[in-house]
Amino acid sequence: MGIVYNKEKKTITLHTKHSSYQMKIGNLDYLFHLYYGPSICDADMSYQIRQYDRGFSGNPYESRNERTFSLDAQPQEFSTQQQGDFRTTSIEVVNSDGSYSFGGKAVDVTITGGKYKLNTLPTVFANEGDTVDSLEVILSDPVTKVQVILLYSVFEEADIITRAVKVKNAGDTPIHLKKIMSVCLDFINGSGFDLVSLPGRYGQERQVERQKINHHIHTIGSVRGSSSHQQNPFVILCDHDATEDFGACYGFCLMYSGNFLTEVELDQYDQLRLVMGIHPKQFVYEVKPQEVFEGPEVIMAFTENGFTGLSHLYHDFFRSNLCESKFVSKVQRPVLINSWEAAFMDFDDVKLVNIAKAAKKMGVDLLVMDDGWFGKRDDDNSSLGDWYVNENKIKCGLHKLVEQINDLGMKFGIWFEPEMVSEDSDLYRSHPDWAMQIPGRPAVRSRNQIALDMSRKDVQDYLIEKVNAILDDANIYYVKWDINRSLTDIWSNQLPAERQGEVYHRYILGLYRVMDNIIKTHPDILFEGCSGGGGRYDAAMLHYYPQYWVSDNNHPIDRLKLHYGTSFVYPISTMGAHISDSGRLVPIKTKAVVVMCGTFGYELDATHLSEEEVKICKEQSDLFRKYYHIIFGGDYYRLSNPFEVGNMTAWQHVTKDKSESLLSVVVTNLTCNGPQEYVRAKGLKPDAMYSINGSKELYSGSALMHAGLPIEREVPEYTSFQFYLKKEG
Ligand code: GLA
Repeated sequence: MGIVYNKEKKTITLHTKHSSYQMKIGNLDYLFHLYYGPSICDADMSYQIRQYDRGFSGNPYESRNERTFSLDAQPQEFSTQQQGDFRTTSIEVVNSDGSYSFGGKAVDVTITGGKYKLNTLPTVFANEGDTVDSLEVILSDPVTKVQVILLYSVFEEADIITRAVKVKNAGDTPIHLKKIMSVCLDFINGSGFDLVSLPGRYGQERQVERQKINHHIHTIGSVRGSSSHQQNPFVILCDHDATEDFGACYGFCLMYSGNFLTEVELDQYDQLRLVMGIHPKQFVYEVKPQEVFEGPEVIMAFTENGFTGLSHLYHDFFRSNLCESKFVSKVQRPVLINSWEAAFMDFDDVKLVNIAKAAKKMGVDLLVMDDGWFGKRDDDNSSLGDWYVNENKIKCGLHKLVEQINDLGMKFGIWFEPEMVSEDSDLYRSHPDWAMQIPGRPAVRSRNQIALDMSRKDVQDYLIEKVNAILDDANIYYVKWDINRSLTDIWSNQLPAERQGEVYHRYILGLYRVMDNIIKTHPDILFEGCSGGGGRYDAAMLHYYPQYWVSDNNHPIDRLKLHYGTSFVYPISTMGAHISDSGRLVPIKTKAVVVMCGTFGYELDATHLSEEEVKICKEQSDLFRKYYHIIFGGDYYRLSNPFEVGNMTAWQHVTKDKSESLLSVVVTNLTCNGPQEYVRAKGLKPDAMYSINGSKELYSGSALMHAGLPIEREVPEYTSFQFYLKKEG
C-alpha cells in the first residue's frame, strides 16, 4: 500500500518504490511534516522532532503553559498564518472580519485508490496498471471554518508524489485568498542543501544555476502572466555535494503556466521550508461560502542518484502520465519544415509548395505554414485575431493548398497566436473591449499587440470556434500555438472592481479551457506549444501539447546549452528543435546531430540548398527516423556540462534494455596540439559487448563507461561525432 495511516501513532506515510514521505497529526492536531527521503519502511520519524523554549517564538494559546511548543520551530505540512510561525506562509487569507489568520487543524484523513483530479486545472493521470493511491487531509480552522484540503497521489513504481491544495469556504461569509501555495515542505535539518533553478531570457531559456542556500528567502518566480523565459516553475533541492550521478535530489515541478512563486527559506534554526504555487502578486481571489478554490498540482520526485537519476524519473513519468496525445508514444512524430526562418511573412501558396517540394527531397514529412497566412498580415503590426485565410497570399485557398502538399505525400501544419489581438484587426475594431486594457490607460504594446482577455467566456468561445473552423476546413496534421508577449494591463471588464485580483489566474483557466476543447475536438492533430521560443515551457502546457519550441535561438552551439538545461526535467521528446541558417560556421551535419536531441526538423529555405546539402539532410532525416526509438523512448544522459569550460559537449541516449545507444559529441573548441580526449559512456551493460557504428571490433560496456571513447583530434571546430552502439550477442 502506497499510503499508510497509523491511527495510533497518528502518522501518515507515503511510500514509493525508493522514497518515503511522512506527516503526523501532532500537538493540538496541527499537521507536522516528519520526513521526505530514502525509504524508511514503517519507521515512525516523530523522534526527530525536538522541542525547546525558543525565545521570540510564540506558543499557541492552548499550550501556553508548555513553552517548548511553537509553530515557529516545528516542521509543518502546510504552514499556518498568524499562529506564531514567522517563516514564509503557505496561505494568506483575509477573513470577512478583516483578520489575516488561518490556524488549520487536521480534522479528516481519507485514503482512496487511484489519482485525484482537479476540476479547473490540469493534472497528471494514472494509466491502467499503475499503482496509485491518493490521500486527502482536511485542515479546518475552528474559528473561521475555512478548510484547506491537502491532496496527495503516490505513484509507487514511478517514485513520484503529487500534491495539490484546495481551499473550501465552509463558513457563511466570503473570504479573500491572497496567497495559496500548492506545496509546503519543511526539512527539520535543512542545512547543506543547494538550490538548482532554470533561469534565462528570450533566446537563452533554461540556463542552469546552482546556489548555496543561505539564511534568507530565495525567491524564484514569474509575474509576466506566464511561466516565462526568465524563470521556470521547476527547482531542485540537492545535497551540497550532489553530482550528475550521485547524491540526494528533490525535484518540484509546478503544473501551471501563469505567474508562479517558489520560495526557499533557511530559518534561524537551520530548518528549510520550500513553498511553491501561484504568485501572490496582484492575486486576490474571492471564495464565497461553500465555494472551493483549487491550486495547481506540484509533481515531486526524490532520488539518491544525482541529477541524472532525477531527470530520468521526470522523463519517464512525463512520457507516460502527463499528456494523452497519441503522439507522445503511439505515433512517431514527423520530420517537419517550418516556413518562419525560410520566408518570415513573405510567402504565397506557390512559394510554400516550392519549399515543400524541395523539402520532400530532404526527407521531410510535414510543411508548417508559420505566421503570416491570415487577415492581412504582412508584418507583425496587424491582423492577430483575424483567423481567416489571406487569399491574396494563399490564392488557391487553404483547402487547395493543403491538397497540393498532401499530393506530394506530405502533411500540413499551421501556426496560430490565439491569445493576442492587433489593434489593426477586424476583431479589435468590432470588440475593443475584448483586449486587456485598464480603463483610461492605453495598454502597453509589446510587438505592437495586446492580450485578449482570456478570462472572458465570449473570448474563449470565439477562439474555440475560429481555431476549430480552420482545423476543420482542411486536412491539418499539426498546429503550433504561440504567444509572443508578457501580460500587462491586467483588468477585465467582466469583473467588478474588487475582483480584479482574479484576472491573472482566470486568464490561465480560460486558456486551459480553450486548449482542452481544441485538442479534444482534434485528437489526431499534433500540437506544439511556443512562446517566442520557450517562454511558457512548463508541465501544464506539456499536459496539452506533447512538444514545445525550445527557443527562437537556433544557433546549434547555443542549443547545446538550451537542450542541456531543459533536459533537467523535460523529456527530449518534448523539445522542438530545427536546423536553420543560424550558425553559419557550423556544418549542417553538426546542426543535425544537435537537433536530433529533440523533435528534429528544418527552418530554412529548402529551395536554396545545394544538392550536397539536400543529400546530407536526407541522410540525417533518415538517421533520425532510424534512431527515433532510442532518442524518444530511451534514457538520456548528460555526459558533459556545456556551461563549463571544455572542448566538447557530449550526451547519450540508451534504450531501456541497454541494447542500443546513440552517443553524440560536438567539438566546440580547438586546442592546438592538445591531449587526447575521451568521452565516457553511461547506462550501458558493463558485461556486454558493443559494436560502434557497425564495427567488427567489439568493446565492453565497462570499458566504454570507465575508460571512454577516444575522440578524434585535429578536426575542424564544430565537427560532430555520432556513435551508434549496438549490443552484440
Ligand atoms: C515567435 C515564434 C517563432 C515564430 C514567430 C512568428 O517568435 O517563436 O518561431 O513562429 O513567433 O511570429
